Amino acid sequence: MKEYKRYTLTAALPYANGPIHFGHLAGVYIPADIFARYLRGKSLDIIFVCGSDEHGVPITIKAKNEGVSPQDVVDKYHSLNKESFERLGISFDIYSRTTSPVHYETATEFFKTLYNKGEFIEKTTEQYYDPEAEQFLADRYITGTCPRCGNENAYGDQCENCGSSLNATDLINPQSMISGAVPVLKETNHWFLPLDKYEAFLKKWILEDNKHWKPNVYGQCKSWLDGGLQPRAVSRDLDWGIPVPVKGAEGKVLYVWFDAPIGYISATRELTPDWEKYWKSEDTRLIHFIGKDNIVFHCIVFPAMLNAEGSYILPENVPANEFLNLEGDKLSTSRNWAVWLHEYLDEFPGKQDVLRYVLCANAPETKDNDFTWKDFQARNNNELLAIFGNFVNRTMVLTHKYFGGKVPAQAELSDFDHEVLEQFEKSKQAIEKSLDTFRFREALKEAMDLARLGNKYLADTEPWKIFKTDPERVRTILNISLQLTANLSILFDPFLPDTSSRLRKMIDLKNFSWADGGRKDLLEVNHLLNQPELLFERIEDEVIEAQLQKLKNNKLDNENKALVSEPSKSAVSFDDFGKMDIRVATILSAEKVAKTKKLMKLLVDTGIDKRTVVSGIAEFFEPENLVGQKVCILLNLEPREIKGIQSQGMILLSENADGKLFFVEPRPEAVNGSMVK
Ligand code: MF3
Ligand code: ZN
Repeated sequence: MKEYKRYTLTAALPYANGPIHFGHLAGVYIPADIFARYLRGKSLDIIFVCGSDEHGVPITIKAKNEGVSPQDVVDKYHSLNKESFERLGISFDIYSRTTSPVHYETATEFFKTLYNKGEFIEKTTEQYYDPEAEQFLADRYITGTCPRCGNENAYGDQCENCGSSLNATDLINPQSMISGAVPVLKETNHWFLPLDKYEAFLKKWILEDNKHWKPNVYGQCKSWLDGGLQPRAVSRDLDWGIPVPVKGAEGKVLYVWFDAPIGYISATRELTPDWEKYWKSEDTRLIHFIGKDNIVFHCIVFPAMLNAEGSYILPENVPANEFLNLEGDKLSTSRNWAVWLHEYLDEFPGKQDVLRYVLCANAPETKDNDFTWKDFQARNNNELLAIFGNFVNRTMVLTHKYFGGKVPAQAELSDFDHEVLEQFEKSKQAIEKSLDTFRFREALKEAMDLARLGNKYLADTEPWKIFKTDPERVRTILNISLQLTANLSILFDPFLPDTSSRLRKMIDLKNFSWADGGRKDLLEVNHLLNQPELLFERIEDEVIEAQLQKLKNNKLDNENKALVSEPSKSAVSFDDFGKMDIRVATILSAEKVAKTKKLMKLLVDTGIDKRTVVSGIAEFFEPENLVGQKVCILLNLEPREIKGIQSQGMILLSENADGKLFFVEPRPEAVNGSMVK
């Protein structure tokens, strides 16, 4: 590969409309951070930039739902996510945001440059408009019936029931989510980036020059390119975003996917006055860390924008990951099927490296992967604790016990000793080779294998058994074990920065760099170690059970959400409500209505009379259990004949997510015939 003078690493700007979850981390931020720390360890000139993506329709929807402003939403999640990343040890050089003034300026300039160069085409199209709210509707703001599967709650861009991607105009009975009005088609003007114009350039650049990209990334790009590229709108009719800097563009903002990637550049400008060398110099290696849903934007659209602008470099690599599932199910913010980073950090204080370890060891690098709490526990207990922690602890404790905490000298070396010592450099090289090709799981495994070798070395040589008879041998064994420990504190550093730094404190290793990894003499003879501390703790079953329970509860809450989030009905007057005669009553007898599954015939004492009511509860109750049950009943509902029975009134019921029915139950002391009001 070409020699580069400096590195610009970017990690996808997360939307500031929700907290960070494990899927984001495994796919993007943990690999990116490992890579950044690795390069810094090699003393290379790197910047690692990220920030919040604060525009786009989902943020405005969230704001609307919560009754706050979009700015409130992004302020909240920007701070939360910035802080959570710090607590996890993600070492961004800057975590900026796309509502910052620098970004407005940078994105505006970028648009103007392209505009002045005549790179956009202007087109008038028809788009759905909400005549009541008097605004154009983003596809996500429209619901209706899916033309493919008949789901009545499909969105204008997608049906979540059958997974089809839709255009808002495909929906049957479209409805505006803002006002409930039926949207109408109206003409609107937008600016488009003619991607078709860049097809030849992109084909050569990606398909010929970038054969080194990961197969999943290359493959996705190829199928986009094979399908032919279309002009893409870079503006939207929306009141949240960066105004389109052109006369006559009132009420129009830059499309979020136009401004967001420019955010990488803005963040760099905010970081350093010397920003241009990180973006405009051919000897800078630009790498975008992203998830697979971002591939087209980073490999096709943004490069086309950069190319059109003319003064920027293009990414040398885009190591996108696949998705992480959770306990066998797709992660979903809206369904609350996720583990949130800030909650993890609160619930597992001091265990940020355990999470980094598990998510890297299990990263969805080549295919979607599953996170399970059982695996989390097993990796902590059987790998971090039983291998790495156990090895380091035994080495430290024995050195303190036999040699007062001073590094003993080596004597004559056995074949096994040589083999272990040689492995340091081999491990380092293997880790480098894997990291250089973005194979983080493999790199981490190499590091863990070195700890595994240390563990085996102690188990096989059993210094605790031979100290009395052969202390010389024990000196050698512990010297080698300590050199291995010192290597672990360097080679694990990009992956487990907190653990590695605690370990270096324990062995009092100062002034290290990545280049020292592989050395056999990191600790001098007689160098004094500090007291051992445990690097990891066992994670007990109860802790895992509690997390699983929490997920179950989330799932339940979410299933019930559909039920309770029915929009409220329109207002009724007090008089209207007063017209309903609802009273406390007691069931006197009950029998199932023959040849029906659901119906139960009830005789109730209403306080003023005894009457018959037919109710749809037969699936949920046995008749004999109903006698004496207190209920609320609407008395003056017009009598109806159901299966030949006159039903005089209606029992009030509530329903849960599985459709199970419950009585709205008066307190036992409520008297039959008393009004519910
Ligand atoms: N916010 C987007 C997402 O979470 C990613 C934006 S990356 C950027 O999918 F390049 F546009 F910044
Ligand atoms: Zn559908």
